[in-house]
Amino acid sequence: MARTDADSWDLASSVGATATMVAAARAIASAEPEPLINDPYAASLVRAVGVDFFTKLVDGDLVLDGDDASAAEFMTSVMAVRTKFFDDFFLTAGAAGIRQAVILASGLDARAYRLPWPEGTVVYEIDQPDVIGAKTAAMEKLGAAPTAERRAVAVDLRDDWPAALRAAGFDPDLPTAWSAEGLLVYLPPEAQDRLFDNITALSATGSQLATEYHPDIAAAVRNRSQSMAERWREHGFDVDLSELWYTGERNSVVDYLTASGWSVTARRRPEVFAEYGRTFPDSEDAEPQRNSLAVVATRQ
Ligand SMILES: C[S@@+](CC[C@H](N)C(=O)[O-])C[C@H]1O[C@@H](n2cnc3c(N)ncnc32)[C@H](O)[C@@H]1O
Repeated sequence: MARTDADSWDLASSVGATATMVAAARAIASAEPEPLINDPYAASLVRAVGVDFFTKLVDGDLVLDGDDASAAEFMTSVMAVRTKFFDDFFLTAGAAGIRQAVILASGLDARAYRLPWPEGTVVYEIDQPDVIGAKTAAMEKLGAAPTAERRAVAVDLRDDWPAALRAAGFDPDLPTAWSAEGLLVYLPPEAQDRLFDNITALSATGSQLATEYHPDIAAAVRNRSQSMAERWREHGFDVDLSELWYTGERNSVVDYLTASGWSVTARRRPEVFAEYGRTFPDSEDAEPQRNSLAVVATRQ
């Protein structure tokens, strides 16, 4: 279904289902023989959502073949590398003394439960109410305990989320580590700019931000819509990613943050793969993501 300005979802529908999709990829990546990541909650969280297609994938009850298999393999390797990149970002920020973290669009991200946060760290998670409520409930049911002080903030990132974040106790005078992982493509271009304006306004000097930027987004959508949605539908999963992403012209994250007073470093995906001992594939599926950037910025 096409996006609208005030659309909402749960973990089984629309944009929410993408959180379940990437958690399934983390579960599969965690079960690989020499895994780059270990997310011990991902599989259980996927099962708790109950989308048959993803549950079967994480349980090994659905074996993909042909193009489906190579697309899933690529997605799994991207998610492993992406997860490691954001894990390392938070660990480095913690080692540098930052004790306040905000995970924007947290979905089924379990970092607040699985990273070794330094003593005294407060981790805010922001997502839509039905998403964050279901994740919190599933983690409680699993008996999972946060490894930091976790504060869930149920709000839409197109609304006044800074007010909700402050109401939850966020202190803008403290340096903060922010992540926007798997989020920007789901925001219209102007909402992306507004998101960064809000983050900047809430960021004390020394704050850090990690995100990804996909300059070739339109090509990625074209590839995916051609190759994935149809076949997923055959497996009973009726969400078309190409309808969820906003593909219009948007500001370069690197330029926008730099102009907003951040010092920015950006690395292309193959470089990040190489850093973690992986090779970025030389396939058609992978091509539109070759120029995707892993971005880390520090507030000056
Ligand atoms: C691809 S998932 C990524 C989830 C998580 N960051 C991860 O990497 O596992 C996209 C997430 O963005 C959230 N999201 C997208 N647009 C949002 C909005 N306007 N307000 C709140 N959350 C949003 C969705 O609910 C979903 O959890």
